[in-house]
Amino acid sequence: MTDQQRVAVITGANRGMGLEMCRQLAERGMTVVLTSRDADKGEGAVAELREAGLAVGYHQLDVDVPASVAALYDFLADQHGRLDVLVNNAGAMFEPSDPADKDGASIFNTELDVIRQSIETNTFGALRCCMTLIPLMQKHDYGRIVNVSTGMASLINMGGGWPGYRMSKAALNVVTRVLSAELKGSNIKVNSVCPGFVRTHLGGEGAPRSIEEGVDTTLWLATLRDEGPTGGFFRDCKAIDW
Ligand SMILES: NC(=O)c1ccc[n+]([C@@H]2O[C@H](COP(=O)([O-])OP(=O)(O)OC[C@H]3O[C@@H](n4cnc5c(N)ncnc54)[C@H](OP(=O)(O)O)[C@@H]3O)[C@@H](O)[C@H]2O)c1
Repeated sequence: MTDQQRVAVITGANRGMGLEMCRQLAERGMTVVLTSRDADKGEGAVAELREAGLAVGYHQLDVDVPASVAALYDFLADQHGRLDVLVNNAGAMFEPSDPADKDGASIFNTELDVIRQSIETNTFGALRCCMTLIPLMQKHDYGRIVNVSTGMASLINMGGGWPGYRMSKAALNVVTRVLSAELKGSNIKVNSVCPGFVRTHLGGEGAPRSIEEGVDTTLWLATLRDEGPTGGFFRDCKAIDW
């Protein structure tokens, strides 16, 4: 099977890195389903890609809502009968995202509800998508799952502040490890990626990396050959410490 026949779903793709991932996977000829929790924003993003000549599909998806993820499963099963690539890109920082606001993001100034919401979206949202959609990959024993994590989740380099973001993405890395262990022996690969510090809504204007630089490693993991890695954590296409 060629890239051209593969079906890819990107979560949280109405802007930022998710939108760029859709653009580049569609440019490679993949059948891309752009998803967003807000239908107007998502359809606007799809229109932008279609104007550039790219054939991109759309489905609404709020990763926090089980019925929304189930509806995406039904759409994929009915319209495509398969899923080959899932990028769990949807995510948010619920503490102040300004890197200078160390006080605002301190664990001592963070409500438990903020941490709970971070885990709901950044961990459970991705896990819910995996649990619901992996059966579509198992039907033809092919899958490339990329969980968009962050170096802020690395236990070996753990710093202070942003406890909800760090915990939820560290738990996302556990999702990567558990799934890859349970899928061992299959051709479904699950990896985590750190995109670096990227100029998006989340990263802010002062971040050093462009969106194109930020999506490089994700796109490599989304299109891995059969002999490629699984159960790893990567930045700049190189393994990094958990
Ligand atoms: N930028 C960085 O420096 C950086 C570094 C490390 C990791 N990351 C990770 O990279 C991923 C992409 O972020 P980005 O930098 O491109 O930021 P972004 O522009 O803020 O994009 C985040 C996307 O996630 C969506 N989203 C949030 N909650 C959602 C939900 N419940 N259901 C569906 N979609 C949801 C947002 O939708 P709305 O427009 O509706 O809010 C938006 O489309 C995130 O997982 C982030 O944690 C970013």
